[in-house]
Amino acid sequence: MKRLTILDLQKKKDQKEKIVAVTAYDATFSSLVDAEVDVVLVGDSLGMVIQGQDNTLSVSLEDMVYHTKAVARKLSHAHLVVDMPFLTYQVSKEKALQNAGELLKAGAQSVKVEGGVEICETIHHLTQLGIPVMGHVGLTPQSVHQLGGFRVQGKEAFQKDKLLRDAKHLEEAGAYAVVLESIPQDLACDMTQSLRIPTIGIGAGVGCDGQVLVIYDLLGMDPHFKPKFLKRYAHLARDIQAAVQTYAQEVREEKFPTEGHSFH
Ligand code: KIV
Repeated sequence: MKRLTILDLQKKKDQKEKIVAVTAYDATFSSLVDAEVDVVLVGDSLGMVIQGQDNTLSVSLEDMVYHTKAVARKLSHAHLVVDMPFLTYQVSKEKALQNAGELLKAGAQSVKVEGGVEICETIHHLTQLGIPVMGHVGLTPQSVHQLGGFRVQGKEAFQKDKLLRDAKHLEEAGAYAVVLESIPQDLACDMTQSLRIPTIGIGAGVGCDGQVLVIYDLLGMDPHFKPKFLKRYAHLARDIQAAVQTYAQEVREEKFPTEGHSFH
C-alpha cells in the first residue's frame, strides 16, 4: 500500500473529501488504525494518556522518538505526523531543525508545532529545508498555563481576528495543514474557507476539512473524560475492567488455566 503524503492530504481538501486523523503511540494501535485513517499523529498527548501527567509539558524529544519508532514500524498506508514537544522548537530555528530531523529519522513524515505568527519563521525554516510542518492553533496545550487551563479559545472578537491572522500566517510560512483545537464552529468554518491548506479540527465543529481525536478518548478508555466535543465509539474502560475482573476471578477459583491451556 502507498503511504499518504502531504500532497494527498491537499488533494483531499481540493476534492472536498474529509481527512481522518487519529493519535497512536505504539505498534499495536498503529497496525490497528493504519488502513482506516489518512493520518496518524504521535501526539504529545502521550504525556497525559501514556505517562499520566496533568499536561504535555514534560514530554521529551526522546519520548517522542521512542513512540514514533514503534508507530512507524506498523504503518503502510497512513501519513505519520509527530508532535514536536515543548521547548524543542521554540528556542531557535536551528534547534528546531535538529530536533525535527531526529523525528524524521525515527519515521515521521512530518512534524506538528503549536502557535501562530510567533512560530512562522521556524516553520518557514523547516519547510524550506524539506521538513513538512503541520500547525496547531486555538487551544494549544503547551501554553496551558498562559491560557489559564484547557479552555475553549476564540470566543472574543479580538481572539477571533488573531486566530484568523495566525492561520493565514502559518499557511504563508509553508505549513501544509493546521489543527484547530477547541474553537467555536463558526470561526473554524471561516478559517477553513479562508485557507488553501486543510484544517483538521478537534472540538472545532463540523466545518473543518478533517477531524482528529485521541485514540484512547474515542475508544472510551477514560470513564471520567467526557468533554462536549468527544464522541466515544467504544467503551473499552468498561470492557477492559470486566475482562480483567473475570480473569482474576477465574485464577482465584482455579478455573484458569485449564488442561487445554497447559503443555504436556
Ligand atoms: O497531542 C495531541 O494528541 C494533539 C491532538 C489532540 C491534536 O495535539
